[in-house]
Amino acid sequence: MSSPKLLHILVACAENRVIGRDGRMPWRIPEDAAFFHRETAGQTVVMGRVCYETWPQARTDGRHPIVVTHNRELARPGADIATSLPEALAIAEKLPGEIMICGGARLYAETLALPRPMRLHLTLVHAEVPGDTFFPEWRQFPWREISRRESADKNFRYTFFELEK
Ligand SMILES: NC(=O)c1ccc[n+]([C@@H]2O[C@H](COP(=O)([O-])OP(=O)(O)OC[C@H]3O[C@@H](n4cnc5c(N)ncnc54)[C@H](OP(=O)(O)O)[C@@H]3O)[C@@H](O)[C@H]2O)c1
Repeated sequence: MSSPKLLHILVACAENRVIGRDGRMPWRIPEDAAFFHRETAGQTVVMGRVCYETWPQARTDGRHPIVVTHNRELARPGADIATSLPEALAIAEKLPGEIMICGGARLYAETLALPRPMRLHLTLVHAEVPGDTFFPEWRQFPWREISRRESADKNFRYTFFELEK
């Protein structure tokens, strides 16, 4: 039996771990949005129901969404439904492409706790941002830094990190 695929986690997170506000992104950072769309194109994207409902491009550019929800009626051609993260990962393992965990908060927390190899693509936004949805504390894990690149726009400074554990 071949070993399970590497899990990729994609997140943009403020210094105070805020990732969302009122069901939306708490900022508009075009460079990060472009990065997210580029990285996820053609891949299997695993996400919670709110993320799916608020991301119109989830089924475009060759993405195959697996939506974690108890609402089976959200199933569409080219989009799978799972009622738990383990069920989503079992489906994703059989599909072509990389497995990209795209949030929200609970899926991030459950994924980070898994005892298997993963790569965190973290855009750390160097600001304290008001919000109601948070990325779990990730710094406690023994990450190995693969790369980092600093950037900025007129509103924010941010760093693209690639971390592995
Ligand atoms: N900054 C970023 O990179 C980033 C990334 C992702 C999301 N966000 C932001 O975060 C917010 C959305 O995230 P969220 O955490 O509020 O919602 P979410 O995870 O997208 O959706 C929550 C719903 O998904 C289902 N669900 C999620 N995890 C589950 C699990 N482990 N097992 C079973 N069901 C599960 C449940 O659906 P049912 O109620 O239908 O059963 C739950 O009510 C938005 O503000 C969004 O913009 C930001």
